[in-house]
Amino acid sequence: MSKVLSAVAWPYANGPRHIGHVAGFGVPSDVFSRYMRMAGHDVLMVSGTDEHGTPILVAADAAGVAPRELADKNNRLIVEDLVALGLSYDLFTRTTTPHHYTVVQEMFTTVHRNGYMVEQTTSGAISPSTGRTLPDRYIEGTCPICGYDAARGDQCDNCGNQLDATDLINPRSKINGETPEFVETQHFFLDLPALADALGAWLDEREASGTWRPNVIRFSQNILAGIRPRAMTRDIDWGIPIPLDGWRDQPTKRLYVWFDAVIGYLSASIEWARRTGDPDAWRQWWNEPEALSYYFMGKDNIVFHSQIWPAELLAYDGRGSRGGQPGEYGDLNLPTEVVSSEFLTMEGKQFSTSRSVVIYVRDMLDRYQADALRYFICAAGPETSDSDFTWAEFVRRTNGELVAGWGNLVNRTATMIHKSFGEIPAATNLIDADNALLATVSEAFDVVGDLLGRHRFRQAVAEAMRVVGGVNRYVTEQEPYKLKEPGERERLGTILHVTARAVGDCNTLLSPFLPHSSNEVHRVLGGDGVFQPMPRIDEVDDLDGGLGYPIITGDYSTAPAWQPRPVVVGTPIAKPAPVFTKLDASVVDDELARLRVGPGA
Ligand code: MF3
Ligand code: ZN
Repeated sequence: MSKVLSAVAWPYANGPRHIGHVAGFGVPSDVFSRYMRMAGHDVLMVSGTDEHGTPILVAADAAGVAPRELADKNNRLIVEDLVALGLSYDLFTRTTTPHHYTVVQEMFTTVHRNGYMVEQTTSGAISPSTGRTLPDRYIEGTCPICGYDAARGDQCDNCGNQLDATDLINPRSKINGETPEFVETQHFFLDLPALADALGAWLDEREASGTWRPNVIRFSQNILAGIRPRAMTRDIDWGIPIPLDGWRDQPTKRLYVWFDAVIGYLSASIEWARRTGDPDAWRQWWNEPEALSYYFMGKDNIVFHSQIWPAELLAYDGRGSRGGQPGEYGDLNLPTEVVSSEFLTMEGKQFSTSRSVVIYVRDMLDRYQADALRYFICAAGPETSDSDFTWAEFVRRTNGELVAGWGNLVNRTATMIHKSFGEIPAATNLIDADNALLATVSEAFDVVGDLLGRHRFRQAVAEAMRVVGGVNRYVTEQEPYKLKEPGERERLGTILHVTARAVGDCNTLLSPFLPHSSNEVHRVLGGDGVFQPMPRIDEVDDLDGGLGYPIITGDYSTAPAWQPRPVVVGTPIAKPAPVFTKLDASVVDDELARLRVGPGA
């Protein structure tokens, strides 16, 4: 049993999240965390809303409200959506708490003291018409490296290189199209070259572990070649103050949003510990070298998790070429794995809220079962290559696989038992076919578990569904519905007992993917409907006298063990109601019409 930190990317609080977002960071991290708990590990799953930086400022300006007000509203919406999806965070918090500010400032101070934060004069962009700072990602132009004509000032999405806005050819403001003006300004730069050897050694060691997704390790190693200092402060009035004399009180100098957001993994772990009443409990996940940590995100976040965050940790620990000593948090662990998804598209197009190529999590869950979405994401999500969400495919997967495959097996099993015995019958004289089925199901725990532990979700869910197919085939071949004579009753009981047991085990195997329906299936099979623990929202006071806020938390200690379990003879089985809702074919046209890309567009 290990300590496992499940570190989930922090969604920006600049608006509600769409299914592309939760396909990247949300569902995969929850499936993994649920499995790891079932496998006996001590999982700490943390995240929160990312509330600083220009994305929030731009959205607040557009809405005519203060950034904090906008963040409050979206934080709550996002919390509600993630709970409705069943994401089992130990703590989902936010970056605007005094607690987070303290942790971020301690990180900055130590990194600075260790010599890895160097002050430099640089050229910064302002908008000539407003006089306001124009952050790099709001400047667009031609990439000097690959020639892509829509590169952003911070990064080129085509070649993946980190850029400075001054590098762009023909720079223009994404907000109003004007040409930015570059002025001299002072900033702190993280001295990445002084950390490059340590980063390279860490990546080599991680590559040797063999479990990173190939796209992620390759990308991370490639970007190491072009490493150079990166500014960790910004000319902006929304963010965490720089904790140094002469900087602290400057109203328009703030820490870069990405410097603070990644520290959220640590600050949320400490907040969680403070809230449990054992304020040092977080150290088991961060200071013990054998603790494991898995970071989940979409691919546009890779550089921040495989370069910037490990560099911040190495600099804090004093493990770069300039040496140094850790601060009060001690020697902090680097990521065990950066688990990145690729992009989800929608009907062949990039998600775009402005062109309404989008389905928000809220709307999706108002109209469809959370587990139908979770199933789609697990079975067809952008795990190692981009994938496409189409309504036709969503309906096909839901009806063809969830309803006709799994739901139907559960339903016919419970119906047959209810009709012929009213309770789970005893098994007598197992024949080869019975033993073979039970063996297949029990072996699946190793196979599916191994895949889940290596975050191969598509293969894992396919394997679990293959077992479901095997149970369906067993029922078809054994033909229990034909056994009507009194002399056949014992055999009938045996088949139904074996089937009930196999269905229960399939439910265990599928439960990390489909937690909501696993509780339903548990009830259908005569249980109390409490199988996979669910997250809840708590309205909490701020720990340091700030404003209260909603958090996601839960007690997941009752997660079922990852193993086959017997069924109890005599358990009453009622007439079942269907667990999954079959979708009408009209869903496709209705949803396409909403998207304005369908036939009626
Ligand atoms: N807010 C970022 C995004 O939505 C993700 C931040 S991940 C964190 O792309 F680690 F920095 F928090
Ligand atoms: Zn480029």
